[in-house]
Amino acid sequence: MEIQSYLDTHRERFLEELFDLLRIPSISADSRFAGDVRRAAEFVREKLIEAGCDTAQIEETSGHPIVYGEKIVDPNLPTVLVYGHYDVQPSVPDDLWTTPPFEPQVRDGKIYARGACDDKGQMYMHVKAFEVMAATGNLHCNVKFMIEGEEEVGSNNLGDFCRNNRERLAADVILISDTSMIANDIPSIDVGLRGLSYVEVEVTGPNRDLHSGVYGGAVANPINVLCSMIAGMHDENRHITIPGFYDDVNELSADERAELNKAPFDLEAYKQDLDISDVMGEKGFTTLERTGIRPTLDVNGIWGGYIGEGAKTVLPSKAYAKISMRLVPNQNSDKVTELFADYFRKAAPAGVKVEVRPHHGGEPVVTPTDSVPYRAAARAMEKTFGKVPIPTRGGGSIPIVALFEKELGIKTVLMGFGLDSDAIHSPNEHYGLFNFYKGIETIPWFHYYFAEMNG
Ligand code: BES
Ligand code: MN
Ligand code: MN
Repeated sequence: MEIQSYLDTHRERFLEELFDLLRIPSISADSRFAGDVRRAAEFVREKLIEAGCDTAQIEETSGHPIVYGEKIVDPNLPTVLVYGHYDVQPSVPDDLWTTPPFEPQVRDGKIYARGACDDKGQMYMHVKAFEVMAATGNLHCNVKFMIEGEEEVGSNNLGDFCRNNRERLAADVILISDTSMIANDIPSIDVGLRGLSYVEVEVTGPNRDLHSGVYGGAVANPINVLCSMIAGMHDENRHITIPGFYDDVNELSADERAELNKAPFDLEAYKQDLDISDVMGEKGFTTLERTGIRPTLDVNGIWGGYIGEGAKTVLPSKAYAKISMRLVPNQNSDKVTELFADYFRKAAPAGVKVEVRPHHGGEPVVTPTDSVPYRAAARAMEKTFGKVPIPTRGGGSIPIVALFEKELGIKTVLMGFGLDSDAIHSPNEHYGLFNFYKGIETIPWFHYYFAEMNG
């Protein structure tokens, strides 16, 4: 392979191109940025063509577009379908960023920008790895790219796109870099993702905001009520109290748990990184278990009443919260959403009205470690890191992975190169230059081994 010398020659340009992509504020959640989301799609399309795709198109959806491109080398070769997303989370609060979120900058060997890791940086590694393979005559597999613009808002249109394009998307494996590994010197591969049930709740008390002295103490305060309802959803062991919540949870055997806990994990470093004096979670489980194999319920945002400068003595009419529940194998997001809604309606005291509005959901997945795709990814990482990667369970969600299996019957391998400490979804999101280039170096080996194992 003369791959390495090609990479060495073009590494500066690869980074500059990523910077151009990072400068586009493709925030899918905020309609004011719809034009930028489209610009990012167009950018990816152009780069796929430049990198060597036979075709690359913008596929319209009722939301943000999907970019689809492909290079069919030989129909007899195995096909790798690369999935990634070019949309990003909102950057707010912008004032907490050391440098502006859409003005990428390298500091201490890390690229700082919204999307640097999640997922522009990781997705773009595949575009550049493909360029490297195409330019050096090292395409051992056919390659298809499906890069979407709605991952961060629930991938609502991707299921339809898959159903309507089954033949075009036919592939032997789906390869995704949108997860993290343990550390730069401890490569790992996620073999599980949690599902998600996301709801917004509204609690209404009196028909208008009231003077908190004139009425306070005599009328239900929706914020007080919401807080106690939320507090009541965990017991003293931090188990979730919603009846039936754990019914379908796949409990791991003692052996499986022991295996999972063998993964290197430094609790002190973890606490230090987050500047917390202790961790907190479900009793009877380790931190790795709490994020990997246990379901959760967390408030993501809560608001109501007066939050402006100074004090305003007001008893608010309404209170709101956004709540996410992370799900594990065998739970079902629709079922959990319903259990939540039932519980929440019943738990409401007289004097308030409550409304539960479900958002997007997604199903959990686990993938095998004895499959060809997993083994190809493990060999590729072993080749470039010099260490066999450790299988881990990721705590985040990529709902489309379960859908790919259902709609296309194709298994996914999650070869992520980020780190949990990359601050994805947070201010000062970053991605190591090491990780970006290591990804570009590793991906061609995946294609190589995958073809070899299929041959
Ligand atoms: N790339 C993340 C998911 C992720 C991150 C998985 C790190 C494992 C490790 C993805 O972009 C994401 O943020 N997904 C959302 C779900 C979506 C429906 C909004 C999430 O997990 O909150
Ligand atoms: Mn992502
Ligand atoms: Mn994300």
